[in-house]
This record gives sequence, structure tokens and C-alpha cells, in this order.
Amino acid sequence: MKFRVFRYNPDEDEQPYLQDFEVAAERGMMLRDALLQIKTQDEGFSFRHSCGEGVCGSDGVNVNGENKLACITPLAELKEPVVVRPFPGRPVIRDLVVDMSQFFQQYRAVQPWLIRKDPLPEHEILQSPEERERLDGLYECILCGCCSTSCPSFWWNPDRFHGPQALLTAWRFLADSRDQAADERLDELEGPYKLFRCHTIMSCVEACPKHLNPTRAIGNIKNLMLKKSI
Ligand code: SF4
Ligand code: SF4
Ligand code: FES
Repeated sequence: MKFRVFRYNPDEDEQPYLQDFEVAAERGMMLRDALLQIKTQDEGFSFRHSCGEGVCGSDGVNVNGENKLACITPLAELKEPVVVRPFPGRPVIRDLVVDMSQFFQQYRAVQPWLIRKDPLPEHEILQSPEERERLDGLYECILCGCCSTSCPSFWWNPDRFHGPQALLTAWRFLADSRDQAADERLDELEGPYKLFRCHTIMSCVEACPKHLNPTRAIGNIKNLMLKKSI
């Protein structure tokens, strides 16, 4: 199977380039298996991966123009030549490895932890089954970043728009019955950029390998803000 893979070593290369490789594809192989084969052909080829099960979120790449996790992308679904690039819009460290610092800064900016004002109970903070259910489709995010670099609003305002992942996380805590900082969380998202740059284009939903829906989460935050303002 034919591959065209993005190569760039900032210490040696003046420009990035695409390099052709041939991989012996077998039934059931995933894109990560092909990248590992490519690494046996050229040891210097770099990409991130770990769990191989779609859980750690480390092997997000851009494949034939779409962001995907390499370990759960079957080769059988890909058209040849398979063009593999790093996530668009992120600084390249080497080959497919990008700098995700800004992504994690945006994640931290929404305070991704429970904030309590009441004294903590001696044991756990109880939730009803319904309250717990509200978190389904929110807590499963594996922080892979496939959504954020699929988002046109991110490309236009990478420093100012929080991006779909951070906003999904913001809603995950706003929706949590145990959290007591809704007002502060909403105030933090005020202004034209952090939240309101989302134009509901839904590329993030298409890109998410866990089938989560950041667009819906963003809509829920906007509705809550609206309710608060009346
Ligand atoms: S719906 Fe919003 S967050 Fe998702 S891709 Fe579109 S602009 Fe980005
Ligand atoms: S919302 Fe989906 S695509 Fe975005 S970081 Fe989480 S798991 Fe990855
Ligand atoms: S290697 Fe962990 S998600 Fe793909």
C-alpha cells in the first residue's frame, strides 16, 4: 500500500517535504501498524502513540485531510496514496509530532476540576442517577485534540478561541451537579472570542473519534449564558 508521509526535522531540513513509502498491508491492519512498519524502514521517522486501543489519545494525525487516531483507523478505509500529516495549525516538533502546549493551556483555562464552596462532606458528594447521566457524552473525552485542529474558528483565532475540546470540558463541569462555580465559569467565557467564535460548523463533531459532540456542549453553554442574562 502506498503512503506519502510528512517529514520535517527542524535541525536538518530547510523545508518540510512528503516522503513515499510502501507498506505490506494485511487484513485488519490499522494506520498505526503501517506507521510502525514505516519506522522499521526509517528509524528516524517520528510519531506519538501508546495504548493502541483508542484510549490514550496520543496518536492523532491528519490522514487524507481528516484528523483521526491512527490506532483505530483501519487501512481498509483509506484511499491510496495515504497522505499522513501532522495536525494542521500546530507547531511541528518533528515529522508527525506536534507541540500541543496551547491545547493544554486552553484545557487548563476552563478549570477542569470540581469547585466546591460548601464544606466537603465526610464521604462522597452524592448524585442522583439522572444527575450522573447528564455527564454522559462529556467525561469520555481523551484529550486527543482531533476536534480542535479540525475547527475553522480555531484556525482563524488559535490564541483567542478556546476551541471545541476546552468548551466541551467547560460544559462537563457546568453540567455537574456537584460543582458550585457556574457563575464564575460563565463569566470567564464572556466576550467575543473564547466561546462565541464557534460558528456551529460542526467539523469538531465529525472529527471526534469518541463520537462526542462539542457543538452541542457549546450550544448548552450559550443557552445557560442567555438564561443568566435575563
Ligand atoms: S462547531 Fe464550533 S467548535 Fe465545532 S468545529 Fe465548528 S466552530 Fe469549531
Ligand atoms: S472531544 Fe473528541 S476529538 Fe476532541 S479532544 Fe475529546 S475525544 Fe478528542
Ligand atoms: S495509541 Fe492511544 S489512542 Fe491511539
